[in-house]
Amino acid sequence: MQTGDFFAALWEDYLKLAPQARDIRAMFGGAQVVNDHVAFRTFDHPAIALAVLEQPLLEMGYRRDAPYRFPDKHLSAWGYIPANADDPLIFLSELHIGQLSAAAQAIIEQLLADLPSPCVTGAEIFYSGRHWPAPSWAQYQALAAESEYAAWLSLHGFHANHFTIAVHKLGVSLAEVANKVAAAGYPMNTAGGVIKGTEQDLLIQASTMAQPVPFDFADAGLQNVPGCYYEFAQRFCDPAGQLYQGFVAASASRIFESTNQSVSM
Ligand code: NI
Repeated sequence: MQTGDFFAALWEDYLKLAPQARDIRAMFGGAQVVNDHVAFRTFDHPAIALAVLEQPLLEMGYRRDAPYRFPDKHLSAWGYIPANADDPLIFLSELHIGQLSAAAQAIIEQLLADLPSPCVTGAEIFYSGRHWPAPSWAQYQALAAESEYAAWLSLHGFHANHFTIAVHKLGVSLAEVANKVAAAGYPMNTAGGVIKGTEQDLLIQASTMAQPVPFDFADAGLQNVPGCYYEFAQRFCDPAGQLYQGFVAASASRIFESTNQSVSM
């Protein structure tokens, strides 16, 4: 698949879980806005683990750049760099199921018990949603109590978890962008402060909180759950004059919390 087709399909799919993203992007130039990166989530189940899911990315010319670990969230991730520098970066993370409680593991294993094999055939997987039965409201809440990531992923499956405005291409500061988005009424992720990271990290980031979307649970009817969110990233050049292409684990850890049902300071 061509990367242009991939990101166009990904954006249309993402808008269903982040309807606010179209309006936010329009505030900064609409389709001209440069997308810095997208992020995907998965479980480390053998049929859909990171090492399986990354294959279509590698086939599109992406290459692994750097690994990231989030021990407190039981996650690990890779950043990927495109063959064409105009294409977005990609961040792919996986949840280590075996690090959760026996109760949470049992829920996930039950949900994933009948995963087709192979589950992944091409890049379409990344906008194909859920390949397993929906969790019940009780299962969703039990997972969320331990891992908001597990709860989100069990419900939504494969989507771009967020798109990201490349603020360094806009000619304004990240603070200005974040203030404008907040002033327009979109709740921001304030975990650890609105702006994550410092210029010394070569990357600073902010994000909205995921927009609530209705989901019809078999045991609880319609409930509002976190969908997807929009991120804003400002990159800086390293001492050699190269724009930083990586991520910052401490910042990304708090950005993950953009899909929490509630986020504390
Ligand atoms: Ni991100």
